[in-house]
Amino acid sequence: MQAVFLEDEGVKKFITEEEYSQMCKKVERAHDMLEKKNGKGSEMLGWLSLPDNRDEEEIARIKECAQRIQKQADVFVVIGIGGSYLGAKAIIDLFDDTFANLKSYSERKHPQIIFAGNNLSGKYLRNLVEYLEDKDFAINVISKSGSTLEPAVTFRTLKVVLEQKYGEVVAASRIYVTTDPEKGILHDLAVKKEYEMFKIPRDVGGRYSVLTAVGLLPMAVANINFEDILDGAQFASFVFNNRDVSNNDCYKYATYRNILREKEKDIEILASYEPSFQYFIEWYKQLFGESEGKDGKGIFPAGVNLTTDLHSMGQLIQDGKRNIFETVINVQVDRSLTYLPELEDNFDNLNYLAGKEVDYINKQAYKGTLKAHIDGNVPTMVINLEDVTEYNIGQLIYFFEKACAISGYVLGVNPFDQPGVEAYKKNMLGLLKEEEK
Ligand code: PA5
Repeated sequence: MQAVFLEDEGVKKFITEEEYSQMCKKVERAHDMLEKKNGKGSEMLGWLSLPDNRDEEEIARIKECAQRIQKQADVFVVIGIGGSYLGAKAIIDLFDDTFANLKSYSERKHPQIIFAGNNLSGKYLRNLVEYLEDKDFAINVISKSGSTLEPAVTFRTLKVVLEQKYGEVVAASRIYVTTDPEKGILHDLAVKKEYEMFKIPRDVGGRYSVLTAVGLLPMAVANINFEDILDGAQFASFVFNNRDVSNNDCYKYATYRNILREKEKDIEILASYEPSFQYFIEWYKQLFGESEGKDGKGIFPAGVNLTTDLHSMGQLIQDGKRNIFETVINVQVDRSLTYLPELEDNFDNLNYLAGKEVDYINKQAYKGTLKAHIDGNVPTMVINLEDVTEYNIGQLIYFFEKACAISGYVLGVNPFDQPGVEAYKKNMLGLLKEEEK
C-alpha cells in the first residue's frame, strides 16, 4: 500500500496553472529519458531496479555476516564518507532507540555502531582509537573508488589497531569490505588478504547506493529488517513510475520544486518534527546537492529539525529573504504513547495539556508553523508518511531518489556525476604531496 503522499495545498497559491502544465511536460520528458535510458549519465541507472533485481546470494551472505559481526564485536565501526555512510546512518537512526549507543549490548541487542572515516579530524580519530582499545570490534570499510582519503586514513589507522590487538589472521576475519566488484586499492587488498567483500554495483553511484550492501550490511547488524525496506522501495518503483504527473506524487514533488526554482526560490529546506530524521535530512542534502548542483545551476538543499530549529532558523524562514521553499516530512502516526502528567501544584501552568500525548503537542506545533510559513510567503509542500516502518521508509527513499533524478534531467544536468568534488581533492592532494618533496 502507498504510504508516502504529497500534500500540495501550501504551494498551489504560489504558482499558476500554466506554469504547472508546462512543467508537467518537462517532467514527463524526464521520465521518458529515464525509461529509455538515453539521458545524461544513463550508464548509472542501476539504482532504479535495485529493489527488483536482488542478488539473493549476496543478501544471504549479508545476513550471515551480520550475525557473525554481532557475535564477534561489541563495537562495529562503519568507515565511509558521503554516499558510503549517510544512508546507513539515516536508517539506523530512524529505527534504533534514540539512546541506543549509551545502552548495554543486551539492551540494544546488537553491537554499538560508530560511523567513522567521514572527516579528517585528528581529535575524532584519536578519541576513537582510545575508545576501541579495550573493546572487541569489527570494521566495515565502505568506498566505491577504494581510494577516498577520509575513509582511507581511518581504515589504515584502525587496521593497525586491529592487527596489534588480534594478530593479522584474526584481524582479517574482523574486516568487511564494501567496494567496487572489479577493481581499486580496497578491492585488491580484500582479494589479497581474503577479507569478506561485498559489491557496490558499477552502475550505482555512491549517493544512490543505500539499497546495496553499502546500507544493507550496517542495517542488518542493527537488526533492521532490510528486506521490508527493499519491498517498500520495490512498491515505490512501481507506483512512482506513472508517467502521468497528476497520478504520481513523486513527479508532482519534482514538478513543484522545479517551478519554484524557476521563480528564484532556489533554497529548499527539508524539515522534520522527529529528531530521528536528522540524518535522513543529511542523506537528502547529499543526494540533491551532488546531483543537481552543477553547471552553475541547482537548488541549495538545506534542512531543519523542528521544533528545535524554530529557535534558531525559524526567524529567517518566517521573515528573511523570500528565496526559500519548504518541504516537510510529516509522520502521521506516533507510537510512543508519551503523555504529559497532571500535577497538583501545576507549577508551570501546563495542566491544560495534562493527559495529552506529547506527539499531539508536536502536531499542533507543526500545524501552527505550517500556516505561519505559508502566510509568510514560504511555499510549503508536505510529504505525509503514514508511519515509520521499514516498508514505508523504503518507499520514502525511492521517492526522493526518483524525484532527484527527474529534477536533474528537468534542470538539464547529469544527476549521476560529481565533477565538482574533484576540485578540493586535487588541491588537497597537491598540497599533501608537495610536503613530501
Ligand atoms: O555520491 C557519491 O558518489 C559520493 O558522495 C561518494 O559516495 C563519496 O565521495 C565517497 O566515495 P567513495 O565511496 O568512492 O569513497
